[in-house]
Amino acid sequence: MTAGATPAIEMRGISKAFSGVTVLKDVSFSLGRGEVHALAGENGAGKSTLMKILQGVYSSDSGEILIDGKLVRISDTFAARAAGVGMVFQEFSLIPTLTVAQNVFLTAEPQGRGGLISDRRAREMAQAVFTDMGVVVDPGAPLENLSTAYWQLTEIAKALAQDAKVLIMDEPTASLAQHETEALFELIGRLKARGISIIYISHRMDEIYRIADHITVLRDGAKVLTSPISDISPAQIVEAIVGRKIDAKLEWRQRLAQEDLAPVLTVDGLSSGNRVKDVSFTLHKGEIIGLAGLMGSGRTELVRCLFGIDPVTAGTISIDGAPVTIRNADQAMSHGLALIPEDRRSQGLVLEHSVRDNLMLPLLDQTKSGPLLNASAIAMLTRHLISRFSIKVSDPKMAVTKLSGGNQQKVVIAKWLGTEPKVLMMDEPTAGVDIGTKSEILDMVRGIADDGKGVIFISSELPELLAVSDRILVLRNGEVVKNLTRSEISSEEFLQLAIQGA
Ligand SMILES: Nc1ncnc2c1ncn2[C@@H]1O[C@H](COP(=O)(O)OP(=O)(O)OP(=O)(O)O)[C@@H](O)[C@H]1O
Ligand SMILES: [Mg+2]
Repeated sequence: MTAGATPAIEMRGISKAFSGVTVLKDVSFSLGRGEVHALAGENGAGKSTLMKILQGVYSSDSGEILIDGKLVRISDTFAARAAGVGMVFQEFSLIPTLTVAQNVFLTAEPQGRGGLISDRRAREMAQAVFTDMGVVVDPGAPLENLSTAYWQLTEIAKALAQDAKVLIMDEPTASLAQHETEALFELIGRLKARGISIIYISHRMDEIYRIADHITVLRDGAKVLTSPISDISPAQIVEAIVGRKIDAKLEWRQRLAQEDLAPVLTVDGLSSGNRVKDVSFTLHKGEIIGLAGLMGSGRTELVRCLFGIDPVTAGTISIDGAPVTIRNADQAMSHGLALIPEDRRSQGLVLEHSVRDNLMLPLLDQTKSGPLLNASAIAMLTRHLISRFSIKVSDPKMAVTKLSGGNQQKVVIAKWLGTEPKVLMMDEPTAGVDIGTKSEILDMVRGIADDGKGVIFISSELPELLAVSDRILVLRNGEVVKNLTRSEISSEEFLQLAIQGA
C-alpha cells in the first residue's frame, strides 16, 4: 500500500465476546488494495472470528469498519457481499449435490433478483468466471464428484461472480495437494494484479513468505504485530504467535531400534481393488512408520483399508502375530486399531455435540459391556484431555462447532488417544494446527510409541514426517515403492525425489 492511499478495508477497535468470553480485544486491521495480507495466530486466537465479523456472519460488540474509506455497517452477509467482501470459508459453504455452476450462483438471498437463473445460463456465466481465473473445470459437473481443490476454486469463483474486491481465504491449502497449492498461488497472483485484495489465514510460514505482502498476528484475541513481510524474520513471527521464543525447527530424534521388539501389525500382500496393491510391511511395538507419497498415491486408502472402511480384496492382516478379519471399523477397533481420519469434520466428530461427549464417545463405546463411567470420572478424564492437548474451550459442555478449526482437530486426536489403541493410524493429524501445538503433537506421537504402541503416520509435510518416523514407506499408485529406515534418508530432498519417482 502506498502512503496516503485509501485502504480497501479498515477495521478499527473491533471487540467481540461470546457469552461473556472475550475473543477479540480492540483489534485494528488495515488491508491495502491489491495486497495479500497474511493473518496468523494460534488456534483459537480469533482469526476466523475477526473475518466472520468482516463478512457479516457475526456482529462486533464495538469498533467500526471502513471500506474504501467509507464507514459501512455490515449487519449481515448480504451487506458484506454488497460491499464487495467475499469469503472462502474454512468450512465449505457449498452444496455437494448441486453442480459447480449452481454452487457458484447459489445465494442465500431470500428473494433472488427476478427468481432463479436458468441452468444453462448459470453454466455459461460460471464458465466465463473460471476462464477468467485460468481454471479448467466442467461447470455442469456435480460438486461431489470433484476433489477438494475444485471445491476451493468453486468458492473463489462464487466470490468473484459476486464481484468481490476483497477475498478472505481461511487456510485454503489445508486440504490441497502440492500442485493444487501451486495453482492456487498463481491464481492469487493474477487476482492481485487485477487489484483484488486478499486476506490469507495460514499456519504455514513457507506459504506466508511466498505470497504475503503484509502480516498481522493475533494472540489471545489481541493484535500483537503488523508488519510488511520483508521487514520481519520467521523467528520474529513465531515469537509473536506463541508469545515466547521457540525453536520451530523440527529435529529428528533417533529412537531405539524396534526390530528386536515383537511385531504388532503385519500386513502381507494387502490389496483393496486397484487403490492399494500388494502392500506388505511389519510394524513393531514402539515403532513409528511414516507414509509418504503424493495425493492419490494410496496413503489414505491404505489406512482406510486397514481400518475396515475400504474392502480388503486380497492379502492378510495380522495383529500380534495372529491373522484377523477386519470388515468394518467396529472390528478394527476391537482388534486394537484406531484411525484419526483426514477429514475430521465429516468423519471424526459429531459437531453439534459437546466437546466432552465427543471426547468420551470412543470410551463409552468401549465400556458398553463393562462398568459405566460415572459423571465425576467423565469430568476428570475430560479435564485431563483438554489440558493435555491444550484445547481452547471455556466450557467442556460447549458444542464442538463453536471451537476454532484447529481446536476441533485437537479434539479428534485427543478422543482417539484416550482409547489406548495397540496401533494408532493418523492421517494428516497436524493439518490446520498451529505451530506451537504441531510440535506438541509430534512429541505426543513419540510418547505413544515409547509406550509400546505402533504408529502409522501420514503427512504431506516432509519435515514433520522426517522428524517422527523410524521408517518411511513411499507409496505410488497404491504400491509401496520404497521401504526405508529413517537413517537411510539423508535429506528432505532425498525423500522428495523418492516420492516423485525420480
Ligand atoms: N459461535 C461461537 N460461540 C462461542 N465461542 C466461539 C464461537 N465462535 C468462536 N468461538 C471462540 O472464539 C475463539 C476464537 O475462535 P476462532 O475460530 O476465531 O479462532 P482461529 O484463530 O480461527 O483458530 P484456528 O486457527 O484454530 O482456526 C475460540 O476460543 C472459539 O472457541
Ligand atoms: Mg479459524
